Amino acid sequence: MEKQLQWTLFLITLSGVMACTDLWKKVFLFPKPSQDSYVTLIPLLNTRLQNFTLCLWTYTELMRGYSVFSYATQDVDNEILLFKDNIRQYSLTIGGEEITFPVSENSHNPEHICVTWESASGVAVLWINAKPLVRQVLKVGYTLNANAKIILGQDQDSYGGSFDINQSFVGEIGNVCMWDYVLPPIEMKEKCSCGNVLNWRNLNYEENGFMVTLPNLWV
Ligand SMILES: *[C@@H]1O[C@H](CO)[C@@H](O)[C@H](O)[C@H]1NC(C)=O
Ligand SMILES: *[C@@H]1O[C@H](CO)[C@@H](O)[C@H](O)[C@H]1NC(C)=O
Repeated sequence: MEKQLQWTLFLITLSGVMACTDLWKKVFLFPKPSQDSYVTLIPLLNTRLQNFTLCLWTYTELMRGYSVFSYATQDVDNEILLFKDNIRQYSLTIGGEEITFPVSENSHNPEHICVTWESASGVAVLWINAKPLVRQVLKVGYTLNANAKIILGQDQDSYGGSFDINQSFVGEIGNVCMWDYVLPPIEMKEKCSCGNVLNWRNLNYEENGFMVTLPNLWV
């Protein structure tokens, strides 16, 4: 009997760690600014990356700057940081180097964002609502480290921590997907939801603090 109980507890623990959830037509809502509400995304691949594509949706009324996607490694806090500096500018940091993209003002409509980066050329592309902005080049030849901590809702200023309430995300975020390669341009318009590094339809994540998962009302 005792053995059976132990086995059951072991299975429950195992499923708690390995659980992947299909978040099709769901979003995470961060209802208010905070220093301790966030979601940790556990990647399906834990390797060094030379290329990537990241896509997601955001819906927010924030006017101040906020973290959209924070990917830290032990040596580099901003291994990948996608940050909205203000209503007219995004910044993208890779391997600690930052570039900025001017964007047109979006009066509180949901925004579909994709970022691609390729090490060999260093070319980074930011797509906003299926439109590519002027391309830029950074970190040519760089390789992103493995063992990333990936966090939504906060900007990591250290590996897995050092959050700033004034950089927290407030609003809805969904369809977060990441690939270890550069997707062809046609796919940036298709709003797909299944990457091989992060897959919204098979997502392993941990919720922290005050946030909720809700049906998507706006896509
Ligand atoms: C990254 O993409 C380039 C093509 O641009 C390819 O040659 C290289 O093998 C890729 N690296 C990895 C680790 O997949
Ligand atoms: C956040 O911003 C507010 C208003 O600008 C400021 O008063 C506060 O000190 C800031 N908090 C932190 C932790 O930076």
